[in-house]
Amino acid sequence: MSATATTLALKRDFLTGTEWNPKQLRDFFRLSAEMKAHPDRYRGALAGSVFVLIFEKPSLRTRVTFETGIANLGGSSIFLDHTSARLAEREPVRDIARNLERWVQGIIARVFAQETLDELAANANVPVINALSDKFHPCQALADFFTLEERFGNLRGLKLAYVGDGNNMCHSLLTIGARAGAHIRVATPAGYEPDAGVIAEAKRVARETRGKIEILRSPEEAVSGAQAVYTDVWVSMGQETEAAQREVTFAGYQVNEQLFAQAAPDAVFLHCLPAHRGLEVTEGVIDQPRSIIYDQAENRLHVEKALLHTLLAS
Ligand code: CP
Ligand code: NVA
Repeated sequence: MSATATTLALKRDFLTGTEWNPKQLRDFFRLSAEMKAHPDRYRGALAGSVFVLIFEKPSLRTRVTFETGIANLGGSSIFLDHTSARLAEREPVRDIARNLERWVQGIIARVFAQETLDELAANANVPVINALSDKFHPCQALADFFTLEERFGNLRGLKLAYVGDGNNMCHSLLTIGARAGAHIRVATPAGYEPDAGVIAEAKRVARETRGKIEILRSPEEAVSGAQAVYTDVWVSMGQETEAAQREVTFAGYQVNEQLFAQAAPDAVFLHCLPAHRGLEVTEGVIDQPRSIIYDQAENRLHVEKALLHTLLAS
C-alpha cells in the first residue's frame, strides 16, 4: 500500500466526481502517475477481488480498461450485458444490489439514469463506480485531466474549451476541472447548456481553487487562446431519435481547422471517443499530431487502476 493512497481516505463510491475535494484529486493524480510508472508494484493489490461490470449501454474503452486494470491488479471481473434489457426490467435495482454485495467486492455500472447508480450505491455495501450515466462520465474526465497534467505539467489556470453539447461529458469536465483549478469555457447552442446545478457546484469549487467556469454561446470566444479544445458527440447514447434535429442545431459547433486555429499555438485536441469525423470534429483536427485522443484512452487504464486501488486497497 503506498503512502499516497493512504492519505486519500475517500468515500467509497465514485458516482459523480463531487465526492472528492481538490486535495484528494491532486493526491489521486499522484497515485495514478505512480501506478502508471510502476505497474509491477501494484500487481497483487486486488488479488482475490471480483468485480461486476453491469452495462446498459455499449462500450469499448470503459469495459476494456476496467477489465484490463482489474486483471493487472490481480482481481477478476464478470461482465453483465444489459444493453438489451435495462437493469430494473427483470428485478428491482435494489435487489440486484443486495445480491451482488454478497458475492463481489465492487460494482462498475454504465446506466441510462444517474438515479440507478444512486440506488445501487444505497443498497450495496461495496463500492459503486459510475462508468457513464446520463449525467456524468467521471472516469473519463479523470483520464482527461491526468493526460493534460502530463502534457502541460500543471492544471491550475489551464484553459480548456469545451464546444458542443452540455452533456454528461461536459458535466464531468466542469466537476473535475473545477477541482483541478482549471479555467473551463463551455460553448453550447441555446437550450443545450450544462445543468444549472452542475454549473453552480463547479463555480463554488472554482472559487476555492482559483479556477474559472464560463458558459458561453460562441465557439470562437470559448476556443480563443485555449490550451485544450474538447468536443464530444452531438447525439449521446439514448438520444438517437433526436439525431437529425441535433445535427442541424449543432452545425455551427464543429471543431474544424478554422476554429482550432484560434486556440493557443501549443493547443491540444481532446475527445472522449467514439467520434464522428465530419460532424462534431473534422478529420484534419482529430487526426493531427496535436490530437491526444489515444493518450486519453490509454490513461483511462491507469486512472481506473488508481481509482480501484483508492476505493478498495487503501
Ligand atoms: N469514452 C468512452 O467511455 O468510451 P466507451 O463508450 O467506448 O466506453
Ligand atoms: N456523451 C457520450 C459519451 C460517450 C463516451 C454518450 O453519453 O454517449
